[in-house]
Amino acid sequence: MIEAKVFMGSKEIEKLETGERRSPYSGDVVSTFPICSAEDAKKALNVAKDAFENSKKSPLSQRIAWLRDVAKRLKEQKELFAKTITDEIGKPLMFSRVEVDRCVETIELTADALTHLRGETIPTDATFSGKKSTAFWRRVPAGVVVAITPFNFPLNLAAHKLAPALGAGCSVVLKPTPEAPAVGYLFAKLFIESEYAVENALSVVYGDAEVGSALVTSDIPRAISFTGSVPVGNIITKSAGIKKVSLELGGNAATFVEKSADISHAAARCAFGAFVNSGQVCISLQRIYVDADIYDEFAEAIAKETKKLKVGSPYDDDTFMGPLINEEAKDRAMSWVESAKKEGARAIAGGELVDGIFAPTVMADVRDDMQIVCEEVFAPIVSLVKVESFDEAVKKMNDSPYGLQFSIFTNDLKIMQQALDQFECGGIVVNDVPTVRFDIQPYGGMKLSGVGREGPEFALEEFTEIQSVVIF
Ligand code: SIN
Repeated sequence: MIEAKVFMGSKEIEKLETGERRSPYSGDVVSTFPICSAEDAKKALNVAKDAFENSKKSPLSQRIAWLRDVAKRLKEQKELFAKTITDEIGKPLMFSRVEVDRCVETIELTADALTHLRGETIPTDATFSGKKSTAFWRRVPAGVVVAITPFNFPLNLAAHKLAPALGAGCSVVLKPTPEAPAVGYLFAKLFIESEYAVENALSVVYGDAEVGSALVTSDIPRAISFTGSVPVGNIITKSAGIKKVSLELGGNAATFVEKSADISHAAARCAFGAFVNSGQVCISLQRIYVDADIYDEFAEAIAKETKKLKVGSPYDDDTFMGPLINEEAKDRAMSWVESAKKEGARAIAGGELVDGIFAPTVMADVRDDMQIVCEEVFAPIVSLVKVESFDEAVKKMNDSPYGLQFSIFTNDLKIMQQALDQFECGGIVVNDVPTVRFDIQPYGGMKLSGVGREGPEFALEEFTEIQSVVIF
């Protein structure tokens, strides 16, 4: 069992009061974490403020070596990290291992991106009112960064914040998700114990709204990076004051299966994209619009693919889907399915508990006004909606308060081009599910799905300021 600790800068602090984290699968205690207060958050911010004086002056070569060292040591401890992810959030081991591999790459990609963080020269005499000078702009670290991470990818989504922020020369206060404190602690320890670490540049505090609010509303941080729900994103936007805020807030990702598509490929991939990580992914496939000509064939194929998925203990190497994060999430999923059924939808796979786990569920004959398509489900439920045309599909896909990622399955180039032109979202995938994310890409949403972009090169922009220089 791992005992997570507070880091006030590089110093590990013992707290008297601790809480317990229980496995969502077995209910056993898997880790403990310190109970922190708003006062702890303020202390950590002050440590970060002092540390920034050094981190902003640290050589880039040191910070690049730092990230590469963290990636190397994470790779060496892959099984420990994978097991801790599985313990704390119930993610099947096979996908916890994938998350560790992705995290190693995210950090390495950030180290690479730092080597070409550039500005450019400016011809200040290009206008009559201008004057010849040596002028340029460059990127400088933004200052103290607050990083608040979610439970669904507790390691890799922390890496998408810590690596670019620390790499850019910022100091950081991390508040890891309350559901996976040990993952946050072990990951921070890798940074802090590195021989290349910038002293005190990273602090870690734990907690919920009280601690989060103290971090976000303080005048010390210059940037907030948050991944989580829309309601919390709204609170952060309203309370942060004048500072950089990047928000990754989820969505209700959709695809259109067009009549020229390879139906068996689309069905297999849709079952993957809807149910991986129990649908607890911001780009989890939630809405499938299917051309009326192929609707029945597709419905049968996806139901068949779904029934093949192994549901059960997240510790079995071949388990595809484990439990939801908590009982509340399970009850909510069940009640949404029940209310859709009452309104005329049918569960053609799942819709029930298997050994206490909410099964991967495909709902057919879903109408556009039902809660399971309008709101973010964040559970293993996917809805099939029959459409008569491409235009109808696009209209329905865009008719959402969210705009994170969409996809289309088609072999018709013209239709694909129209989709690229008309989809209103941050990322588009062709001939695969919207659940596809490569860590090198820009990632983030339009509308309620958020503000700003992750992905090493793009996150570096979030954690730096442009500084303009003129020398006469
Ligand atoms: C997310 O849920 O936003 C992250 C998805 C991913 O990194 O694959």
